[in-house]
Amino acid sequence: MSEPKQYQVYQQFLPREIWDFTAFGYRKAARNFESLSSQGGQKHIVLTGANSGLGLAAAHALAQLGANLTLIIRDRSQAQALQQECEERGAAQCRVIIADLALLQETQQAIDTLLSWAEPIDVLINNAGALFNQRLETTEGIERSTALLLLSPVKLMLGLRPLLELSSRGRVINVVSGGMYTQRLSMSWLRSGFANRYKGPAVYAQAKRALAIVTQEWHETWAASGVELNCMHPGWADTPGVQTALPTFRRWTQRVLRTPEQGADTIVWMAVSEQVAGISGAFFLDRKPRRWYLNDKTRERPTDRHALLKYLDEIL
Ligand SMILES: NC(=O)c1ccc[n+]([C@@H]2O[C@H](COP(=O)([O-])OP(=O)(O)OC[C@H]3O[C@@H](n4cnc5c(N)ncnc54)[C@H](OP(=O)(O)O)[C@@H]3O)[C@@H](O)[C@H]2O)c1
Repeated sequence: MSEPKQYQVYQQFLPREIWDFTAFGYRKAARNFESLSSQGGQKHIVLTGANSGLGLAAAHALAQLGANLTLIIRDRSQAQALQQECEERGAAQCRVIIADLALLQETQQAIDTLLSWAEPIDVLINNAGALFNQRLETTEGIERSTALLLLSPVKLMLGLRPLLELSSRGRVINVVSGGMYTQRLSMSWLRSGFANRYKGPAVYAQAKRALAIVTQEWHETWAASGVELNCMHPGWADTPGVQTALPTFRRWTQRVLRTPEQGADTIVWMAVSEQVAGISGAFFLDRKPRRWYLNDKTRERPTDRHALLKYLDEIL
């Protein structure tokens, strides 16, 4: 895909880093990508949200690389077909766990299932997510973006840590979003359950920012016990999630959106590549570390960082 003339005009108005979110950014970066075909075989990889969009593209690619997959999805009716698809593509094994990850209780059940298998986990990919334009609380009384995008991935990290530590080199990949560049974490707002001024994209970005901060805060101590924590963002990819939650954005950007496979490429690379070994506390797009903040105004206060860790300690 070459950059048509009209996009060269857009480029003048978009910061370089935002332009990199598009399919053109991907194509440019991909010129230097190593092949992953000989990597990843037999790794036990736990992937959430594997039935759609980026998660499905990642599951297919990891299956092709011969991974041993455990996929966590919430729709039981999709489990058998998904499992079969992955095994046909070359997965060493593919198991599916059913859990609604917006519910802490079901997240815990998924953790318990994995703990009962007592198998080392080489990679945990926290990918499941959604942007909710309507505010809703889960049946557990938690605002659902916070539950799905922050609490569930953190709970999975904590609950599965013993199995990640059993791996020779455990990795956690937290899928966040370039949208978080727009927000400064506000713990008073998050703690209130975003009850006032609810706006889907802002709340989504707050929750993603919070998960990114947790990754930054914990990565050193986790790395000391042999588990590397990193984040990535996929750029802008045309997935069912974007189609449902951001129809206007999609209409405007459709011609520059990435395919789900392009968006998922860095997830797959982070899961299997030897180039990532030893890296912890980084934030990747297109296999390259990126800045956590584009603007100092979105850098949270130290008190909010501490308040976030305290909140997680209380609620989980
Ligand atoms: N696409 C982009 O441009 C983009 C940009 C930045 C970040 N992201 C992030 O990338 C990740 C994947 O998004 P996507 O674009 O691929 O969206 P998607 O096609 O909607 O896929 C989201 C996945 O998350 C699962 N999920 C949602 N709610 C769940 C719940 N309560 N319990 C269990 N699973 C649940 C979905 O399952 P169901 O099919 O059952 O709903 C689906 O498998 C998300 O974390 C998203 O925030 C995407």
